[in-house]
Amino acid sequence: MKKQKTVLVTGASSGMGRATALYLAQKGYLVYAGTRSPSKLSNIKLENIHVVELDITSSQSIQKAISSIDKIDILVNNAGYGLVSTVEEMNEEEMYNQFNVNVFGLLRVCKAVIPLMRQEQSGVIINISSFLGKIGLPLLTMYNSSKYAVEGVTDSLRYELRDFSIRVHSVMPGFFNTQFARSNLVTNLETFDKNSPYAKLVANLAPNIIEQINGGNDVKEVAEMILEIIENEKFPARATVGDKASKFIPMRKELSDEDFERRVREYYKL
Ligand SMILES: NC(=O)c1ccc[n+]([C@@H]2O[C@H](COP(=O)([O-])OP(=O)(O)OC[C@H]3O[C@@H](n4cnc5c(N)ncnc54)[C@H](OP(=O)(O)O)[C@@H]3O)[C@@H](O)[C@H]2O)c1
Repeated sequence: MKKQKTVLVTGASSGMGRATALYLAQKGYLVYAGTRSPSKLSNIKLENIHVVELDITSSQSIQKAISSIDKIDILVNNAGYGLVSTVEEMNEEEMYNQFNVNVFGLLRVCKAVIPLMRQEQSGVIINISSFLGKIGLPLLTMYNSSKYAVEGVTDSLRYELRDFSIRVHSVMPGFFNTQFARSNLVTNLETFDKNSPYAKLVANLAPNIIEQINGGNDVKEVAEMILEIIENEKFPARATVGDKASKFIPMRKELSDEDFERRVREYYKL
């Protein structure tokens, strides 16, 4: 009989993290759902989901969460949020916080989990990046660059962990209907002030992006892809999921930078 595999999912209280935790538990995995807000998961009654308090901005919190887990076969680095600000108007704290969660947080969890995987000489790390990890957009510079960084981390780590049979993948979702636009887009007040020199750009783009996220794909697609990555050892290192990602990523590869930008400008009326 196959031994039950253990998964740690970060940012599991909503959206893709929650859907993934539930789906993998339904498929028989032993799931540790990491969240800053355990009470948001208190209505989950599946016996193979354990909710663990986890704040990825704190190494102490990560160590405490992991010390309660015997082994981790699969890590899904999902927690993340988006800063919406122009570069000119964002402040140091906003800049740092974006990387502290989306990049340093992911690295902190990797640092804590890799020794456990290395001991077993096996493991799968799945980083939830974004199609905006390959494509830039105005107002999202910090989010974009944090996800570009996630792509870089994923590629470097794959070499580093190969000898220990630890696979490292990135998933680049397009827009998905989650709590992201409702609770986890942090807006810079100056950028959203009506007197900002960027007011026209904000008025054109921000509502459009929010509408696209809220009207985006169903998170089940992400959960299904994560299961596929776990179970198929030959799964590609990087994959897109959702309509917008499958439209823009191939276009990004085919076109020159200038032609691609022209298409994006037309699409978003920039
Ligand atoms: N929705 C989209 O259109 C979209 C597209 C591409 C990529 N993504 C990426 O997909 C991942 C999941 O997002 P989602 O769409 O499922 O959104 P979501 O429903 O807002 O979930 C994001 C989760 O990340 C954690 N998180 C948010 N802000 C955090 C902070 N400041 N510090 C620590 N953790 C924080 C939260 O977990 P806890 O509160 O449970 O700790 C939250 O449940 C993110 O990495 C996001 O960048 C989303």
